[in-house]
Amino acid sequence: MYRLWLLILVTTVFQPVRAATPADDLLPSIAIIGTGNVGSALGVSWGRAGYPIIYGSRTPESKELRELLSRSGNARAVLPHQAASHADVIVLALPFKPALELLPKMGNLDGKLLIDPINALTFDTDQQRVGTFDALLAEQIQALAPNAHVVKALNAVNAVNMSADRDFKGPISIPIAGDNLAAKQTVAKLIAVLDLQAMDVGPLFNARYIEAMAPLYVYMNYFVRPPGGFEYNLTHSKQ
Ligand SMILES: NC(=O)c1ccc[n+]([C@@H]2O[C@H](COP(=O)([O-])OP(=O)(O)OC[C@H]3O[C@@H](n4cnc5c(N)ncnc54)[C@H](OP(=O)(O)O)[C@@H]3O)[C@@H](O)[C@H]2O)c1
Repeated sequence: MYRLWLLILVTTVFQPVRAATPADDLLPSIAIIGTGNVGSALGVSWGRAGYPIIYGSRTPESKELRELLSRSGNARAVLPHQAASHADVIVLALPFKPALELLPKMGNLDGKLLIDPINALTFDTDQQRVGTFDALLAEQIQALAPNAHVVKALNAVNAVNMSADRDFKGPISIPIAGDNLAAKQTVAKLIAVLDLQAMDVGPLFNARYIEAMAPLYVYMNYFVRPPGGFEYNLTHSKQ
């Protein structure tokens, strides 16, 4: 009996301090370029989950940035090109044209993962039409950074739902497209942190179809307005 109690004491009270596993050290730094709706939502969510965040902003010293940093865990803010050089994962949380202008100034992007949530939308409120002013956005980004691993993701979901704490009820799918499998696996992990469901829909060529989901998405949310909002839920048969 004494031995049994001793065993319980040893195994419950004297728990060894958990050794750091390789996984603890492997959370990559994430450079988030642009600190608007998307950049701030992702930075706060991933920062709280332990990922080191480097915001790339035109105004890294501003009051708004200080406030954002206070909510983003282990985070700092620098100029966009500086952020890109300090991380292997870069999110282009930018309007399309500024993204095209900034990319050539971001230094060597070879081998880096570039997450592209960008849309190029036009609105006609009178005719209730949502359109696009450009196409093949991810492919244009890939052309400017030919040796980066571009993954299209998170362009057809509301920034307010890029958080596990969201109010939206029900699963939300995030189709992802890219040519590098390891890069897509990293993006799928980051999407899981947001409690969203990544679905690999193939090579970067297919980013054009994910981009086409965005105008419909915005149309639904601005003009149809289903209660609670519209999000995509892609599924397949459970065989
Ligand atoms: N809003 C959404 O729900 C949502 C959802 C999915 C995808 N998207 C797409 O994601 C991208 C970012 O959207 P967002 O809603 O985060 O946009 P946003 O709120 O307007 O923020 C964009 C950020 O980009 C930076 N920026 C750098 N150069 C700029 C310039 N010349 N003009 C304006 N901003 C510039 C700014 O950050 P600094 O001031 O820190 O430099 C700005 O805060 C867009 O392509 C959008 O279509 C948006």
